[in-house]
Amino acid sequence: MKLISHLLAQNEQHIQRLIQSRHPILSAAAAHLFQAGGKRIRPTFVLLISQAIGTIHQSQQRLAEITEMIHTASLLHDDVVDEASKRRGIDTVNTRFSNRIAVLAGDFLFAQSSWYLANLNHLQVVKFISKLISDLAEGEIRQTSTQFYTQFELAAYIEKSFYKTASLLACSGKATCMLADSVPETMGQSMYLFGQHLGLAFQIMDDVLDITGEISQMGKAIGADFITGNLTAPLLFALTQQKGLVTLLERECCYTQDANQVRQFVLATYAIEQAKDLAFEHVQAAIACLASLTPSEAKDALFDLAMNTISRQR
Ligand code: IPE
Ligand code: IPE
Ligand code: MG
Ligand code: MG
Repeated sequence: MKLISHLLAQNEQHIQRLIQSRHPILSAAAAHLFQAGGKRIRPTFVLLISQAIGTIHQSQQRLAEITEMIHTASLLHDDVVDEASKRRGIDTVNTRFSNRIAVLAGDFLFAQSSWYLANLNHLQVVKFISKLISDLAEGEIRQTSTQFYTQFELAAYIEKSFYKTASLLACSGKATCMLADSVPETMGQSMYLFGQHLGLAFQIMDDVLDITGEISQMGKAIGADFITGNLTAPLLFALTQQKGLVTLLERECCYTQDANQVRQFVLATYAIEQAKDLAFEHVQAAIACLASLTPSEAKDALFDLAMNTISRQR
């Protein structure tokens, strides 16, 4: 992203500094995941909105760093919950270090992000970002408590995905506007909705890529959602078309070939196309929210960010 590449580079340096701990093991564990890369979609999103509504303030740049720290903390915990061994193309912290260190490093990052958030000295922003942190936990709890639940409804899946993924973008989109000079409240609302739809499209496509993606591109295991009983959009669509799926899911894919069979069943339906259509509807809804922005390079880049959500391979 050329427009903000210098700021993204600064972001990397700042984050390295923000994750220093008195305990070298915590810094090392957090740095392990940061240094592995990642798409940096959340800071890109915050910086582009900042640019599209005015000039980028230091507080908005700090918010961009905070969003990536919160995201990384949630990934550290998510990989423990999912027992994942690869992330961003390398061993996860739970594999390389241990579950304990991964949980503590995640807690440490949440704590550091809260500290830097408080230092923005903007109570409304603190409230919004704190809410999205509790939403992350809500999303993970909902997912854990509905594993292999074949009656799970699409509306409940969307709600769970809002908590797990979209709330971070929605709330940080709004908070970015709160940190700008004299931006009308309606702009904050538009950027909240932009983030919400972008986040939903992003999670639906992540769930599609868990079936159709390549490990080498994604840098994490494929098919992980079947194994953990995470009933995502493609699976929910497929369930209405392939009766055999219910049996496999109700026995929690306990036989060696079950997960592979689930995949074959899903691929034999229209479920992937239906899930992609649903993601595209959210991309269109996101793009409609950009109408309130005056034309600019940053606005075009936000449009591209939304469109890339559905064409991405990683
Ligand atoms: C992964 O997020 C978790 C989801 C919300 C689907 P990303 O796909 O943004 O992960 P990185 O940061 O690029 O590794
Ligand atoms: C996103 O969900 C996780 C968080 C928002 C913490 P996933 O469980 O689908 O993420 P991946 O696929 O492991 O990256
Ligand atoms: Mg996971
Ligand atoms: Mg996933």
